[in-house]
Order: sequence, then C-alpha cells, then structure tokens
Amino acid sequence: MKILIIGMGYVGTTMGAALANTGHEVTGLDVDKAKIESLTKGILYFHEPDLQEMLSKQLQTKRLSFTSDPKEAIKDNEIIFITVGTPSLKNGNADLTYIKQAAEMIGKYKNGKKIVVVKSTVPLGTTENVKQWIEVATEDPSPFDVVMNPEFLREGRALQDALNPDRVVLGSHSDEALNTLEKIYSNLHCPFIRTTPVAAEMTKYASNAFLATKISFINEIARLCDQFGIHVQDVAKGMGLDDRIGGAFLKAGLGYGGSCFPKDVKELLWTADHSGCPLRILKEVERVNHDQPQYFIEKVMKKFASLEGKRIVILGLSFKPHTDDIRESVSFSIINKLLQEKANIIVHDPIVKLPNEWVNKGIKQINDPYEATEEADLIIICTDWPLYKEIDWAKISELVKGHYIFDGRNILEADCIKKLGFNYEGIGYD
Ligand code: UGA
Repeated sequence: MKILIIGMGYVGTTMGAALANTGHEVTGLDVDKAKIESLTKGILYFHEPDLQEMLSKQLQTKRLSFTSDPKEAIKDNEIIFITVGTPSLKNGNADLTYIKQAAEMIGKYKNGKKIVVVKSTVPLGTTENVKQWIEVATEDPSPFDVVMNPEFLREGRALQDALNPDRVVLGSHSDEALNTLEKIYSNLHCPFIRTTPVAAEMTKYASNAFLATKISFINEIARLCDQFGIHVQDVAKGMGLDDRIGGAFLKAGLGYGGSCFPKDVKELLWTADHSGCPLRILKEVERVNHDQPQYFIEKVMKKFASLEGKRIVILGLSFKPHTDDIRESVSFSIINKLLQEKANIIVHDPIVKLPNEWVNKGIKQINDPYEATEEADLIIICTDWPLYKEIDWAKISELVKGHYIFDGRNILEADCIKKLGFNYEGIGYD
C-alpha cells in the first residue's frame, strides 16, 4: 500500500523504514529540509541501533523516499500517518501546534478519500480535533476517516519494537478504516485491539503512566532497602518472577527521563486535574521521580564534608543507554546539583556530545573513559551504558585519586568493585 508519514522524528523514521520493510511504498514528509536532505542521502541524523542499516536497505529497494513537498505527497497518498512531536508546554499540557499544522496541511491539499492515522501521543479528544481541523481547512468534499494508533516504541530499540510490537491498538469510528489499518499491519503477529479514538489515546497515556509508576514504586522501595541494608535487585527479582507483577521496569536508579514519561505523566495529570478527577497515585509517582536525584546527591554528600573543587566524573549523559537523546536526562539534574556545590565536573558518554551551554558552564568532556577518570575524587554513574559494566575497573582503581563510586543505575557488581578498594554506593544497596 502507499503510505505517507508526516514527521520524520525517531517514531516517523522508524515506522517508515519498518513499513517499507514489509513491502509498503512509504514517503516520509517533514518541513525540516535538513532532516529530509540527510534521510534522502541515507544518513540517519540521530542514533538508533540498526536503523541506519534498515534505512539504507529500504532506500535501495526504492520503497522508501522522503520529501518536504506536502502538496504532492498528500495528493499522492490515501493513507497518511501523523508522527509529529507533542512536547510539553510550561503549564504541563501538550503543545499541539505541530499536530494542528499537519491536520491543516492535510485539509489544504486533500484531493479525495483519505485515512488519517494519528500516531503521535496526543491528549484525550485530540484525534476528534484532528478531524475538525481537517474539515475546517479543506475545500475538498470527499470523505476521510481518522484513526488513533498509539505508538509504543522505545528509544534505543525502536526498530525491534516496530517490527515485533506487543500489541497494535487502533481507535476509530470507521470499520472500513480499521480494516485497512489491520491490512497494513497484517505481517505482525500480535494481538490487535479495536476501540474508540479516545480509548486508544488513553491506552497510550495509561501505559506510559503505569510504567513510570513501576519505576517510582521500586525507587521508593529502594530507599527503604537502603535503610534496612537490603539489595533492592534481589527484591525486584523476587517480585518480578510473579507473572502478575512482571520483572520489567523494576530497575531502581536515578529515575525516569526522556521525551516521553515526564511529558506524558504531566499531561495526564493536567487532564485529570482539569476534569475534576485528579490522579493521586500518579502525582506521587512524579514527586518521587523528581526527588530521586536529590536523594542520590544526599548519599554522595554524606561521604564528603564538601564537594567544592572535587574532581567528579559523570559517566553517561543520555537519558538511557543506546540513544543520543538527552531530553529530560537525569544526568543534567545531577550535574546542576554538583555545580551548586562548586564541584569540578568531567563527563563521559560513548556517543553524546556535551552541548555548548554546558561547556560554557565549565564542564569538560573527555572521550576516553580511562583518561576521564584519571585523578578523580569520585565517580558517578548516571546512565546504564553496557560499556560502564565492561570497562576495566581494576585499571581505573589505579588511575583515580579517591576510591568512590556512586552507581546511580546499580549496574556494577558491588562485591567485585569493593574488592578493588572502592567505596561503593548504589541505590537500594547496603
Ligand atoms: C517509553 C515507553 O517505554 C515506550 O513504550 C513508549 O512508546 C515511549 O516512551 C513513547 O511514549 O514514545 P522511552 O522513553 O524510549 O520509551 O524509554 P524507556 O525504556 O521506557 O525508559 C524511560 C526512562 O525510564 C529511562 O530514563 C530509563 O532509564 C528509566 N527506567 C526504565 C528506569 O529507571 N528503570 C527501569 O526499570 C526502566
């Protein structure tokens, strides 16, 4: 089938490559000409495992192409996915500017029957608004349907998730549109859920909110474990083996970041508050997550009378491993707090380049982990990159000045590290 995807961010680009891989003829549209130029040349402009290879492969098959010309692209395609961003506004609710622009663009250039599929995470009721925005913007009388089809990709394993999702959720009032979407995804071996647009929107928010809840829950349990000298990993493992609980998203650490959980939790809280039905549990989830970096810094402060002038090495800048995304990354909350203590901060990350605004604050990036840790007074692990598990900690123990490791992601084997002479502190670790 011929498919247009509006918005070439990580969701749109991944979806485009995955749909082309299953034989569809996909056009990716973005108003950002630099992105389109890069993708047309086969250069992925962000880091996402395996996607570069898939992009090159699909460009070669000619089933995947890119454009910044909305008029031709909308005319040429009956099925149009919207995957533009919905960032947070200052008041916590989602900024729908790009969604509205995409809907109006579809309305303006629409020239016949269309199925418009909203894949962006949008607040309750937005898919219905998309319908109205298209209606207002169009002079074309031909019918069109809207479908809400939330995306559940994770950064760092987006392609894998797109090719093997756990489920496909489709929300529409049109059976014909739902049948077409099921045909598009007919190669996927997972349950399909047909529902209303607003239920599909809620499914996405509730899923992200629940995963965030699991993380804050285990982080609070980890604090209690700290009090009692209990390894939280043992507790999480014991809990996770119960099928009703499940082991995923029970990794205690510095809390959740990224472009999704913080934004989606805020949006759902805002919607709930404004509908007179506040979500009390979720409010605490957000609070626990907000407090987690401070809780961790206090652990550090307990070991030192002052951090002023201390050479502190931060390992990891991305909000999670296998991505170069630093949006809402906890590393920067930690760095900010250390700056307030007048520490001397060195950072390392396998792929993220420290933004200039942080360089201007006096932070130095060193690309070799051994060179970075030379003469360090203490080391803080902020991102669970596998590299930090694999590096030669015996070698590092000879390079550092002070033998202190604060493991904000509980990735190191405490006993082995302690044997090397380090003082080791994790989260929820005795
Ligand atoms: C999340 C969801 O997992 C996806 O299903 C969803 O499609 C996506 O948001 C979205 O809405 O677009 P993502 O933000 O890419 O995906 O990353 P996650 O793997 O969910 O991790 C989010 C944060 O939680 C990271 O900072 C990670 O370090 C943290 N985390 C995760 C923990 O602290 N503990 C865990 O056990 C798991």
